[in-house]
Amino acid sequence: MKTSAAIAFTLFGIATANPIVTSSKYKRADLAGLDFEIINLARNLESLELNYWNQGLANFTDDDFNNAGYQGFRQYLELFRDQEIAHFTVLNEAAGGGFKNCTYKFPVTTPYDLLSVGQVVTTVGEGAFIGGVANLTSSPARLTGASILGNEARQNSLLRQYLGLDYFNAVNFDTPLTASQAYSLAEPFLDCPSSNPPINFHLIPPLMANFTSGATPHSAGDEITVMWESSKVYLGNDVHITFLADMYSIPCPLTQSGDGMGTVTLPKGINGTSVLVATNFNGGGPIPDKQNFAIGYVVVA
Ligand SMILES: *[C@@H]1O[C@H](CO)[C@@H](O)[C@H](O)[C@H]1NC(C)=O
Ligand SMILES: *[C@@H]1O[C@H](CO)[C@@H](O)[C@H](O)[C@H]1NC(C)=O
Ligand SMILES: *[C@@H]1O[C@H](CO)[C@@H](O)[C@H](O)[C@H]1NC(C)=O
Ligand SMILES: *[C@@H]1O[C@H](CO)[C@@H](O)[C@H](O)[C@H]1NC(C)=O
Ligand SMILES: *[C@@H]1O[C@H](CO)[C@@H](O)[C@H](O)[C@H]1NC(C)=O
Repeated sequence: MKTSAAIAFTLFGIATANPIVTSSKYKRADLAGLDFEIINLARNLESLELNYWNQGLANFTDDDFNNAGYQGFRQYLELFRDQEIAHFTVLNEAAGGGFKNCTYKFPVTTPYDLLSVGQVVTTVGEGAFIGGVANLTSSPARLTGASILGNEARQNSLLRQYLGLDYFNAVNFDTPLTASQAYSLAEPFLDCPSSNPPINFHLIPPLMANFTSGATPHSAGDEITVMWESSKVYLGNDVHITFLADMYSIPCPLTQSGDGMGTVTLPKGINGTSVLVATNFNGGGPIPDKQNFAIGYVVVA
């Protein structure tokens, strides 16, 4: 027993001395086509997160968090910042560098805002990596993506726990996002220099969604009011609201109550932060890019 434990320990030592993420296989030359596009999106999301936590550190002191009821939170902010430096560095190297920080603007003025927007940002970040891993063909890139998504999920759980939300987020399986869905949810915060490689995914217009009955944690049957800019959103025929969740998605009828406005009822089986898509798609797989007419989210529990 002792010997095999010692061998295992030694092997582990060797493995960590040669982290696979810096493998020479995982260089831009090997990341072509969709692999490059996904990793380029991923580094943009990581850079957004890094700048988010950095702004939070610049904006709020220990006392600010403690007085807002988030005892000892700032040490985790420093940890998250360090984790995002690591994630960004690896992805930026993989994508061949050539990246400058964008201008990042967030709707944050209080410690509560920082945690609650951060909770959404990490939900989207994790969903982007789950969707990305499904489509990456480079094995080292998949491995790196998978090892980052677990870390994002733990950041998300800690934020949810501090906020008094369900810290498991989704029910049994976390929610994958397509690259276009993740990009579209992040894009309102981003203003990137034209020298950066562009993010080549489909931009879906925003859908604002707010509960107009019940209270957090919400239950099936609670009403959600949704709003969209009607000049930017094509609603197609048979439009409904699909709640992205788990391994499946749940389509629900949309009652249009005015121009760019409607209501939908929370279905059963949705928990955590749910991404909502206005669509006419009725298939089983991810919603095809052009059939995502508008995208937003609600915090259910
Ligand atoms: C982007 O800005 C952050 C500070 O928020 C800094 O730590 C990081 O090094 C910058 N990244 C690049 C690529 O300049
Ligand atoms: C930090 O404060 C600036 C200035 O008030 C604000 O614009 C920005 O959104 C804040 N960001 C975060 C993440 O706290
Ligand atoms: C990823 O794969 C799914 C099919 O599994 C597809 O619908 C989606 O659009 C693909 N592309 C991206 C970039 O997410
Ligand atoms: C409505 O939902 C949006 C996100 O879709 C959020 O930014 C906003 O704060 C919510 N407004 C209210 C009044 O809850
Ligand atoms: C969310 O999950 C919690 C348990 O983790 C459960 O008690 C609650 O009923 C769920 N909410 C909904 C709306 O399904």
